[in-house]
Amino acid sequence: MVKQSTIEKDIYLPRLAAVKQADLLNETELYLQLAMDGEQLDYVPGQFVEVSLAGVGEAPITISSSPTQKGYFELVVRKVGNVTNAIHKLKTGNKIGIRGPFGKGVYPVEESKGRGIVFICGGIGLVPQRSFINYVLDNRDDYGDVTILLGTKCQSQRFLTDELQSWSKRSDVQFLETVDQGDDCWKGNVGVVTTLIPKIESKLKSAVVTICGPPIMYKFVLMALQEYNLQHEDIYLNLERKMKCGVGKCGHCQINHVYACMDGPVFRYSDLAAMPEAI
Ligand SMILES: Cc1cc2nc3c(=O)[nH]c(=O)nc-3n(C[C@H](O)[C@H](O)[C@H](O)COP(=O)(O)OP(=O)(O)OC[C@H]3O[C@@H](n4cnc5c(N)ncnc54)[C@H](O)[C@@H]3O)c2cc1C
Ligand code: FES
Repeated sequence: MVKQSTIEKDIYLPRLAAVKQADLLNETELYLQLAMDGEQLDYVPGQFVEVSLAGVGEAPITISSSPTQKGYFELVVRKVGNVTNAIHKLKTGNKIGIRGPFGKGVYPVEESKGRGIVFICGGIGLVPQRSFINYVLDNRDDYGDVTILLGTKCQSQRFLTDELQSWSKRSDVQFLETVDQGDDCWKGNVGVVTTLIPKIESKLKSAVVTICGPPIMYKFVLMALQEYNLQHEDIYLNLERKMKCGVGKCGHCQINHVYACMDGPVFRYSDLAAMPEAI
């Protein structure tokens, strides 16, 4: 059973982690394998860390590995601005600062046991979902059908392709992928991720559904799921809001009375009903 880790005493003080491996996955995504100095990072799928680089700044990044992996943890970072550009320059052996793990709203690791799970991922939204996906695959007998839907803008933006291929080859996983814009090299599905939903109709009955992707995707995925009469308690959304402190102090991530950093970043859809601005 995965235990929710307790927040460190000094929540503002970064601890050091060493880069064990740094691989550029495509033009914008960098894979990092990291190990904390002299400690194990205890986390559950859905939690994030604040990554800091001295003299540059700090950015919240979700832990992409499964806690079943011991001795190191993994991040996948998209290059978008100051901090993430600096992260992309990291090399094996460099040290970075880590605060966390943070977030109490996490993936339903225990609640989903015995049930089918449908993971709906868009673009970089694969990164947080991957932690829960690999946790489920490492404890395969505890869960029912596993279905993974992934949508990416175009083939050149796909990443972790070896892992995607290994999921697609498993007989105990249904993995469906699509790209928004196809080209001559792409032989698979073309269209946005919602076009895959009708293909898994039978899997949606009594399943738990987790969704992570760009903000626009949530609205359309939720509209597409309406047809299948899922309980809103069974739909989980990973909401990334702008975050600074990560611990409920600065208010950057506030949605009404809720702090995405503390109460999320994963929320049950039923808990968001009173907060239409959240989606
Ligand atoms: C809980 C959480 C988990 C995240 N997990 C990942 C992850 O696993 N991999 C990954 O690549 N990115 C992740 N992000 C997004 C990442 O934190 C931002 O891309 C990063 O903070 C941008 O910092 P920057 O200095 O490079 O860019 P900036 O120069 O600050 O800004 C560049 C762009 O990024 C946007 N941005 C800036 N700060 C944030 C922020 N805190 N949250 C969201 N958008 C922001 C800005 O609006 C702007 O469009 C996550 C964000 C949150 C809140
Ligand atoms: S990031 Fe500061 S309150 Fe959530």
